[in-house]
Amino acid sequence: MNKIVIAIDGYSGCGKSSTAKAVAKDLGYTYIDTGAMYRAATLHFLNNYLSSANPNDIAKGLKTLEISFHFNPETQLQEIYLNGLHVDDEIRTMRVSNKVSEIAAIPAIRSELVAQQQRLGKKKGVVMDGRDVGSVVFPDAELKVFMTADLNTRAERRQAELLEKGELVPLEEILENLSSRDRVDSTREVGPLIKVADALEVDTSNITFVEQVAQIVQKAREIIDKE
Ligand code: DC
Repeated sequence: MNKIVIAIDGYSGCGKSSTAKAVAKDLGYTYIDTGAMYRAATLHFLNNYLSSANPNDIAKGLKTLEISFHFNPETQLQEIYLNGLHVDDEIRTMRVSNKVSEIAAIPAIRSELVAQQQRLGKKKGVVMDGRDVGSVVFPDAELKVFMTADLNTRAERRQAELLEKGELVPLEEILENLSSRDRVDSTREVGPLIKVADALEVDTSNITFVEQVAQIVQKAREIIDKE
C-alpha cells in the first residue's frame, strides 16, 4: 500500500501531539514530534549557557547539537534523545517552554531542524506535527491538518498534563505562556504558524479525542486508497 505524509500543524496545546500519535498508531506510521526537536534544541542552549543573541553561540550550539528519536518497545512510544540522553520529561518543563519560541525563531536553528525533519520523513509513512510542517517542511504532504482550540481549553489541558508529571503551575502562568507563544510563533519571519489553504481544519474545543482522531484517520484512508 502507498504511504503518505501527514502534516499536523496548529497552536500550542491544542492536542496535536496526542492526536498525531494516535493517528500514527492507527495507520502503522512513524510519529515525529517537531516541537520536541525545538524543545531539545532549547534545552541544549539553556544547559550550555548559550545565548540566542550571539551568532558564535548559535553556531557552537548547532555544532554540538545531536537530536535523535528511538522507539521504546516497552512503552510503544517514540522517545527523544539529546546528545545521547533521554530528555522527554525535561523538555516539557516550564523552564524550556518559556524559552522555546525564542530559540525556534532563529533562522539558522530552523533550517538545521527542518533539514533533519525532511530526512526523517523522506520515506513517507510518517505523521509529523508542529507549526510549519505543511507550509515549509513538507509543502507537498498528501494530507495537511490544521488544529485549533480556544485558549482556555488549551490552558486547562496543558495544566492537567503538567500536573500528571508532578509540576503544579497556575492557570494564569500557562495562559500567558500559551498566548505569548501563539504570538511569537505566528508572527516570526521564518516558518510562521499559518493555516495553508489546502489544510483540513479540526477545531478540538468541543469534540472528543476519539472524534478528532477518527476525522483525521478517515481522511487519511480516503487519500491512501486513491494513491
Ligand atoms: O508543539 P510544542 O508546543 O511542543 O512546540 C514547542 C515550541 O516549538 C512552540 O512554541 C513553537 C516551536 N515549534 C516551531 O517553531 N516549529 C515547529 N515545527 C514545531 C514547534
